[in-house]
Amino acid sequence: MKLELEGKIALITGAARGIGKGIALVLAEKGADIVINDKKMNFEGEALATQIKAMGRQTMLIEADVSSEAEVKKMFTLIKNQFGRLDILVNNAGTSQPKDIFESSLEDWKYIIDTNLTSCFLCSKEAMELMAHQRYGRIINISSVVGERGALFGHVHYAATKSGMLGMTKTLARTGAPLGITVNAVAPGIIETELLFKTHGAEGVEKLSTSIPLGLGKPRSIGLAVSYLAGEGGNYITGSVLDVNGGMNMR
Ligand SMILES: NC(=O)c1ccc[n+]([C@@H]2O[C@H](COP(=O)([O-])OP(=O)(O)OC[C@H]3O[C@@H](n4cnc5c(N)ncnc54)[C@H](O)[C@@H]3O)[C@@H](O)[C@H]2O)c1
Repeated sequence: MKLELEGKIALITGAARGIGKGIALVLAEKGADIVINDKKMNFEGEALATQIKAMGRQTMLIEADVSSEAEVKKMFTLIKNQFGRLDILVNNAGTSQPKDIFESSLEDWKYIIDTNLTSCFLCSKEAMELMAHQRYGRIINISSVVGERGALFGHVHYAATKSGMLGMTKTLARTGAPLGITVNAVAPGIIETELLFKTHGAEGVEKLSTSIPLGLGKPRSIGLAVSYLAGEGGNYITGSVLDVNGGMNMR
């Protein structure tokens, strides 16, 4: 039996670890060939590629900083040369700093805006050109619960990027609709990754988890939500925000 995403090419940014890795594994499990992007691939990216190849899928590793226009353009040229198309783009690469407005410099602000939001603009622009030509595409932006309700403390730049992604998602959904491209966002709550422990510390994470009805989330849960939007289930969904937060924020 044909797998749901068989024959589809998916690019996941920031996929060497954490949520991106979880998304890559689920999309591969559902049949997609995977382009793994990360700024720092290290052994983690290589190990992920080996794991995905063992599932019988093709993979491509591209080390690139997605906040750089030149590096994004180079990455898309490599994808076009290798596969000739791109069906699914997941804008996942992102980072944060636990700083409030008094502690944040303009340099901090620009770094987080470029990493989280400019990257989404640059990759979506390249992808939509390819997808418009194909008359098919699925773009999924990894926003955050913070983009919906603001951060509880600090993370002023991060909150701005995650809300910004929601505005971009809805706008690109309207641009993409007549071209066969859907654009949606997934808003994770608190997911166990390196970024979470780096920005909140073990004690902070413990405190946060007690207030979530379903406790802490796993990268795989985000992967499953992305695969739904990328698969047949998502064929009439665009401009939406899918909350995957264990009941942390009920709208
Ligand atoms: N962990 C959470 O609780 C949580 C909650 C909501 C949203 N998110 C979002 O999910 C996404 C992934 O977060 P995570 O927790 O897995 O983080 P992580 O730090 O564990 O992984 C992020 C990956 O992105 C890569 N990356 C960073 N900047 C990059 C760049 N400029 N170009 C290419 N790659 C880059 C990193 O090298 C890393 O491998 C982020 O956008 C984050 O905002 C995370």
